[in-house]
Amino acid sequence: MERIGFIGTGEIAAAMVTGLTGRGHQITVSDRNAAIAAALAAQFTDVAIAPNEQVVADSDIIFLCLLADVARDVLPDLAFRADQRVISVMVDVPLADLKLLCAPATEISIIIPLPSIAVGGSALPVFPDSAALRTLFGDTDLILPTGAEAALNAHFAATALASPILDQMRAGAAWLAAQTGDETASEQYVATVFAGFLRSMTENPETSFTDLLDSLATEGGLNATLRAHMRKAGAIDALTDGLEALKPRLGLAE
Ligand SMILES: NC(=O)c1ccc[n+]([C@@H]2O[C@H](COP(=O)([O-])OP(=O)(O)OC[C@H]3O[C@@H](n4cnc5c(N)ncnc54)[C@H](OP(=O)(O)O)[C@@H]3O)[C@@H](O)[C@H]2O)c1
Repeated sequence: MERIGFIGTGEIAAAMVTGLTGRGHQITVSDRNAAIAAALAAQFTDVAIAPNEQVVADSDIIFLCLLADVARDVLPDLAFRADQRVISVMVDVPLADLKLLCAPATEISIIIPLPSIAVGGSALPVFPDSAALRTLFGDTDLILPTGAEAALNAHFAATALASPILDQMRAGAAWLAAQTGDETASEQYVATVFAGFLRSMTENPETSFTDLLDSLATEGGLNATLRAHMRKAGAIDALTDGLEALKPRLGLAE
């Protein structure tokens, strides 16, 4: 049994708490956001709500789930202990800053969770590797140590792929629904098609995106035609340019 605390009870904290409940841990979440904290405590008997100071006092593993500017305001006033393990999910707060903000705690890692951590099976890039993270999520999620902070930050940029790609899937599903008249079935169809492609990759690590694209490259076929159209319209270049533009914010070499 671990005593786990969350400072900042927003969207990603709620997903992580949901993934951790029911496993014999003691979970304490901070009282902001009040509505999310109340909903978690109402739903799960192993979740309690407390002010930030109490969360830190009552926990051995502390997840920092604040926005960066809030973290810089709030963390210096909290009494961390040297023996605590701290795991930050925050973009824009480098490890060197976390060491100052959470002193005297030294066992500090940064991870990149995604909302799917609520149901398990998600990928969790981490730097530096964290025994505490492995204890909590090693059985349910894929822990990916990145070996360097810059590599972890590159994963932060890659997580930003989710929005533009989901946006395209939504547009494709909306186009389909305009033809069929069934929005729900259209979205489910698109989601199921992609779930199948992605499952075939995660279940067979030797399968690459190029392999999948090759299987959809029949000359003159619908896939090849739409792909050529999107490339010509600059979609791939725009995506790569957008990722490049995130580099300065993430401290990545340009
Ligand atoms: N969402 C994701 O999928 C995701 C994925 C990876 C990493 N992250 C990182 O996770 C962090 C949080 O993101 P989020 O999406 O969960 O944001 P969010 O939903 O806005 O959560 C931030 C939480 O911090 C709370 N807060 C504000 N001031 C506070 C204080 N003084 N003490 C305690 N809590 C306070 C807010 O409460 P109020 O609503 O009351 O202001 C809010 O519930 C960010 O740094 C983000 O980069 C998010």
